[in-house]
Amino acid sequence: MTTTAPTPTAASAAAVSANAAALARGLEGLVAGETSICSVEQGGLLYRGYEIHDLAANATFEEVAFVLLVGHKPSALELKTFKAELVAERALPTSVINFLKTTGPMLKAGTAVPMDICRTAVSMLGHVDPDCQDNSSAANHRKARRLIAKVPTIIGHMQNVIDGRDLVGHESGGDPTLDHAANLLYMMSGQKPSAEFARVIDVSLILYAEHDFNASTFTTRVIAATLSDMHGAVTGGIAALKGPLHGGANEAAMEMLKEIRVYIEAGKGSINEFMQNAYAEKRKLMGFGHRVYKNGDHRAPILHTLGRAIAQSKGFDSLKWFEIGEEVQKIMLRDKNIYPNVDFPCGMTYYVMGIPVPQYTPIFVAARMSGWCAHIIEQHANNRLIRPLSAYTGPAHRLWNA
Ligand code: COA
Repeated sequence: MTTTAPTPTAASAAAVSANAAALARGLEGLVAGETSICSVEQGGLLYRGYEIHDLAANATFEEVAFVLLVGHKPSALELKTFKAELVAERALPTSVINFLKTTGPMLKAGTAVPMDICRTAVSMLGHVDPDCQDNSSAANHRKARRLIAKVPTIIGHMQNVIDGRDLVGHESGGDPTLDHAANLLYMMSGQKPSAEFARVIDVSLILYAEHDFNASTFTTRVIAATLSDMHGAVTGGIAALKGPLHGGANEAAMEMLKEIRVYIEAGKGSINEFMQNAYAEKRKLMGFGHRVYKNGDHRAPILHTLGRAIAQSKGFDSLKWFEIGEEVQKIMLRDKNIYPNVDFPCGMTYYVMGIPVPQYTPIFVAARMSGWCAHIIEQHANNRLIRPLSAYTGPAHRLWNA
């Protein structure tokens, strides 16, 4: 079959038209779609119109997940039903449990990290979900509840495997009397958490639940917009969230703080000297900066206050992390006018609570699953393929047989 090659003139005309469209590196500042789920602005963060401080002070993660998925604050009956649906969906299918049981050696070898295991386990859930190939709103709502319910169980079982412990609550996905956040901690450790610890995790899940067109949510929308399925879309979301410029920053921020503490305690220099060296090496300080918030992340002070209170109750060594962190914040603001994002206090908070660092971003998945699913439902309900242009920078048209 013969095809007609485009003439050089036609090819360059196409390139010119693509170049003529607005070019924004990293899509910065572009409005890429509409959403009624969340508003991220300098002045405030709203989930379906509810302000984040209000939610952190007065709501639970289950209530927030309902608001994100359904659009309004649940009535007492709606909440009771929703919570019962989540509890009923916590247990994992045998295939996923068997997969998780095999992951110890890869996690030990470091060829896989918990975010990778979480991604594969979530993808596998689709293989046995009776609604997997159905993108109707009703099916998407059922799948969303299952996914939100099951991610903490994946994290718990994975941590049990890492610690060499029998899987906690594998028949039922934990303890049905515990709420979502408390059950997550219980499954990870086999210990029922204090009310204070459970509430701090609950608030962190609320803060992490949703953030409009961030990289991972945009990923899920791009996938959903091809009319692919929810499990595929959130699997892509997990891959995007893993990166240290996005959700992976909560782990990276804590690793950086550990590095700073070793540096100062070994007498190598001060926190200020560490930071001046980091600037000189053009190193990004993890847990600082944000594409949208330039005057501070609304979520960061909320978590900082809660984490600091835990550190205070645990004593000098725990408090030291916050003292170092606060000094780093002061210097960043003084030198660069850059504020911490929510991942910075998250790192310290989870650390003083004794949560293993490689599980910080999977816990972010447990929270953001609610936002991702809400966006996938919204995308499927009013779909248009997401397909931007690019500005071509390669060679001009040339002949193969020149
Ligand atoms: N440490 C040091 N410098 C930083 C910085 C950080 N964490 N974040 C931004 N900057 C600097 C950049 O180097 C750049 O300086 P320059 O103009 O002299 O080159 C300037 O601030 C603007 O930053 P830029 O990278 O263009 O902003 P962005 O919108 O592309 O990046 C992030 C946003 C989040 C990717 C970026 O702030 C970052 O990498 N932060 C660290 C990772 C992190 O915490 N991610 C979680 C985000 S919630």
